[in-house]
Amino acid sequence: MKYLVFDSKQEASKEAYKILKSLIIENSTLGLATGGSPTGLYAEIIADHKAGNFSYKNVRSYNLDEYVGISYDHPESYHKFMETNLFDHIDIEKENTHVPDASAEDLEDALKSYQEALNDANIDVQLLGVGSNGHIGFNEPGTSFDTGVHIVDLKQETIEANSRFFNNDINLVPKQAVTMGIKDIMKAKHIILLAFGKAKQDAIRSLVADEEITENIPCTILKNHPSVYVIVDKEADFK
Ligand code: F6R
Repeated sequence: MKYLVFDSKQEASKEAYKILKSLIIENSTLGLATGGSPTGLYAEIIADHKAGNFSYKNVRSYNLDEYVGISYDHPESYHKFMETNLFDHIDIEKENTHVPDASAEDLEDALKSYQEALNDANIDVQLLGVGSNGHIGFNEPGTSFDTGVHIVDLKQETIEANSRFFNNDINLVPKQAVTMGIKDIMKAKHIILLAFGKAKQDAIRSLVADEEITENIPCTILKNHPSVYVIVDKEADFK
């Protein structure tokens, strides 16, 4: 595991992009995350693409998760997030992008299809944020490390943290999500985890400094992965 600390999210995101670019080629497959953590990295991707330095024409992507209970085109759906923050600004083909369909009429069937797609995906680089409780994707504490794509009940702390995207009203935050499982995440060739702000300090300590690997702090499983970059700002640093 490589652990890198920077003064700011901006500096960390620049370095994350350098690392990402060193790990991918023109037809790589990316695992993508939403939320606040990857937005600086997405800005770097867009800037470098617009400068003519990298084309996503043959890149495929698979997102970690999507809320259940809000529509596909809700402004805070993760489909919409990806369009607004990345896909609309690069030359990736829409049909090569995949976000779980959590508003499907037959949700079980949608989960099965996403699992099948992931089984064939061979993700080269998986981007991750981390919850203050250590969740990765929306695999909340207590999730078996052996889980694939599933529906999850979001923990209260996750609902509260994400209320900042929903007018700070926890009643507007979806209570469930579809997520890749830990098993799916661990299959990626390389993982880049980003964490910014003091609220992430405990999760980062558990991941980087503590010995224990426990389903109660899902990110700790990453200690078993052969190629992980943990990139944080100084507020999230545990030292
Ligand atoms: C998002 C995801 C979540 C977030 C985590 C941190 O696709 O899977 O695990 O990465 O909740 O969220 P932010 O980055 O908003 O602090």
